[in-house]
Amino acid sequence: AKLSVRDALGAQNASGERVKVQGWIRSVRSQKEVLFLHVNDGSSLESLQVVADSSFDSRELAFGSSVEVQGQLVKSLSKRQNVELKAEKIEVVGNCDAKAFPFKYKERHPLEYLRQYPHLRCRTNVQGSILRVRSEATAAIHSFFKPSSKIKVPEENFFNVPVFLTVSGQLHLEVMSGAFTQVFTFGPTFRAENSQSRRHLAEFYMVEAEISFLESLQDLMQVMEGLFKTTTMTVLSNCPEDVELCHKFIAPGQKDRLEHMLKNNFLIISYTEAVEILKQASQNFTFTPEWGADLHTEHEKYLVKHCGDIPVFVINYPLALKPFYMRDNEDSPQHTVAAVDLLVPGVGELFGGSLREERYHFLEQQLARSGLTEAYQWYLDLRRFGSVPHGGFGMGFERYLQCILGIDNIKDVIPFPRFTHSCLL
Ligand code: 4AD
Ligand code: MG
Repeated sequence: AKLSVRDALGAQNASGERVKVQGWIRSVRSQKEVLFLHVNDGSSLESLQVVADSSFDSRELAFGSSVEVQGQLVKSLSKRQNVELKAEKIEVVGNCDAKAFPFKYKERHPLEYLRQYPHLRCRTNVQGSILRVRSEATAAIHSFFKPSSKIKVPEENFFNVPVFLTVSGQLHLEVMSGAFTQVFTFGPTFRAENSQSRRHLAEFYMVEAEISFLESLQDLMQVMEGLFKTTTMTVLSNCPEDVELCHKFIAPGQKDRLEHMLKNNFLIISYTEAVEILKQASQNFTFTPEWGADLHTEHEKYLVKHCGDIPVFVINYPLALKPFYMRDNEDSPQHTVAAVDLLVPGVGELFGGSLREERYHFLEQQLARSGLTEAYQWYLDLRRFGSVPHGGFGMGFERYLQCILGIDNIKDVIPFPRFTHSCLL
């Protein structure tokens, strides 16, 4: 039987079953009488130990080569693993020129170094772990929404007409929320961000949800907090080794920081309170905090620290700062909208969302203010034909991975990062 490394390692009472395993050599150790190989196929962090006698030519078996091994799965005598594969046949499928291969056996290469090899870095332990966590988190997010996942918004696709890459699926979700009360989408979105920051990509994945008959920001924030915590707990229980590897070698102390986030209730402050807090500390900033101005990354990070490294919702931003679709709070003299951002340790803004303006006349005014009246007649229509109070949010998936794993640069949590002037692969 053909087994994945993960399944081979999980074999309970290995007692000589004949199996076949395929993968890449992660280490070769040759002793007088025996040869030890470690083979990894991406299914787990741990590699499978293959034991061969000296009749196998170890020169053929280089670090990085792909192999197919047939043999017997047996209990290991060593304490380091439960099972090992006693090789009967080892076939090198593809040789690896180990001298030219950019990664060296047993060396822990920094993430910046690995980033130079987007076509090869997935062969390393650390990238393997990050991508397995990414995959688990994707599945966890889908299952968080599963009971309500009726609709997935299709990609825009036209022939011979100029098309645009979407910056968000929100408006399409709002259309759907006019018939299905809870919808979500999870896919690539695009921004022409001319930014070299460690938290911006030109193509990133966004989880977006839209909920109809939603009465308050409170209800929306509950879903946001639930998404973050449930997804994280699922990931922690489904791939603990991968998470631990990242925590241990990339971000010491991250395990505790994450636990701290999970066990506390997220905090809520208003934009106005946030600005007051920042003003008290303005000597720390390059950009002077001021009511009516956007929060900068440095401000966001300060606020999270100030809140004891617990994620914090900042709500009710000035109307003038936000897009036309956000719901007017009709307060004076500030004049704010029911917007919410979630700021998290290490990253800053992770979620953005709002209640949407469901009242026809308010929306009409806002569209006029933005010069969009003509283009958005269809959007106004949604308020003419059975409008309901609704709201939603978007969560940057790569920033989410950065936040839970403690990874400083967003380019390390997506297999092929696309950003300013860089679309290599
Ligand atoms: O705050 P944003 O721009 O919100 C929206 O697009 C709303 N229409 C979402 C909605 O309500 N349905 O983006 C949401 C999140 C941000 O908080 C951030 O985490 C992430 O998407 N994000 C980026 N991540 C990586 N690179 C970029 N250039 C990003 N821009 C936004
Ligand atoms: Mg935002």
